[in-house]
Amino acid sequence: MKRFAIVGASHRCLSMFVRGLSGMVGKTLEFVSIYDPNRTRCEVFKKEIGEGLKIYSDFDEMMKCEKPDGIIVATTDNTHADYVIRSLDFGCEVFCEKPLTNTYESCLAIREAEKRSGKRVHVTFNCRFMPYFAKLKEILNSGVIGKVHSINYEYTLNRWHGGDYLKRWHGLMEVSQGMLLHKSTHHFDIVNWLLGDEPVRVSAMGTRSFYGNPERCLGYRCSTCEHTAECESFKSQSAPMDKALYFDAEHEDGYIRDRCAHRPETDIYDNMSVSIMYKGGALVTYTLNLFSMREGYKMTLVGEKGMLLCQHYGKDLEGGDDYEIDLLTEENKIQRIIFPKAEGTHGGGDIRLREMLFGEGEHEDPLGQSADSFAGVVSAMIGIGANESIKTGASYDLAKAIDTLR
Ligand SMILES: NC(=O)c1ccc[n+]([C@@H]2O[C@H](COP(=O)([O-])OP(=O)(O)OC[C@H]3O[C@@H](n4cnc5c(N)ncnc54)[C@H](O)[C@@H]3O)[C@@H](O)[C@H]2O)c1
Repeated sequence: MKRFAIVGASHRCLSMFVRGLSGMVGKTLEFVSIYDPNRTRCEVFKKEIGEGLKIYSDFDEMMKCEKPDGIIVATTDNTHADYVIRSLDFGCEVFCEKPLTNTYESCLAIREAEKRSGKRVHVTFNCRFMPYFAKLKEILNSGVIGKVHSINYEYTLNRWHGGDYLKRWHGLMEVSQGMLLHKSTHHFDIVNWLLGDEPVRVSAMGTRSFYGNPERCLGYRCSTCEHTAECESFKSQSAPMDKALYFDAEHEDGYIRDRCAHRPETDIYDNMSVSIMYKGGALVTYTLNLFSMREGYKMTLVGEKGMLLCQHYGKDLEGGDDYEIDLLTEENKIQRIIFPKAEGTHGGGDIRLREMLFGEGEHEDPLGQSADSFAGVVSAMIGIGANESIKTGASYDLAKAIDTLR
């Protein structure tokens, strides 16, 4: 049984790992300790896990005293690398939330620390485990559409989901490096994995067209705002925010979970367009928009022998919640594959990832769904390169950067 420590008393950690892995506690793993600068949030974890969970106010002390076998890193994105590296140097296996990290220097430092320690880093890219993307990967592996030359991937977030990022740390470049890292790391990884190839060059454009508009910022925070009835970033909120984890803990560090999505200090892009070239010659066009009417995505893959048209839109407006794939073959025959939404969070990806990484026994991985640190840095580098391209107006040489990260 593996002894696990946690760094980051975050919402994601509570739902994905603490609650999600509760059935495996006592069988394959146990949670022994937690570190987060906010003690109130750690107490929420203790209540959930039990009195045996030790709360530490110093990370290194926790690692020295507990000597855990594994650590779950689920802090704000700009702090992942530091904990990943320190954990590796303590001889610990690392399970890190996405994005693995968000600067080139920290990508390099993580790869060096992993080699030095001989311990493994796993990146919890849950989208690879969604049955829908697994099916896409199987179709591509079958060769039915041949070599893929072109992917068009369009992702839109509705104003609640998109706006939610602007309400807190994700809205600040210095913490999240924007959505091309925080969010798109999933999408870039999916494309890398589906193609089974590495990107060599990226160019991008980005604007902030909707959020951060002082005319729309009518209150300091949602919970005291008088204008929520007319606010699209509030109205469609799907679930109340966690009171114990956020509102009851804010006196300690001033982390306010529900700042106005239109507060002027945010500086991330909310509308982005990215072009990527791959080693094998495939071209990928990707867009991400944070203020759309409808939440979902479309992906078109053009191969030598056929084509795949994929889409999923949530049920926030009219339409179903099904995932669709149309397979068009050379003979121009169309085969429609419809997936009802899989049970569980993130399209059924979370539960399958947990089973593969933390479940009993050895797990076969025929589709290569579990992601290592190299997958983590390659995906991050596309976002890093895209941000750089937006700044400079020039394309970014990913091949050169990725070669230094092998
Ligand atoms: N895979 C997914 O689908 C998915 C979904 C949501 C979030 N995430 C990831 O999970 C992580 C947590 O996201 P969240 O929205 O749940 O976060 P959150 O806002 O709920 O919590 C962030 C936590 O980080 C802690 N923190 C801040 N600075 C720290 C530091 N220097 N050292 C240690 N802890 C520090 C805060 O105190 C807080 O407890 C992020 O990396 C995010 O990208 C992944």
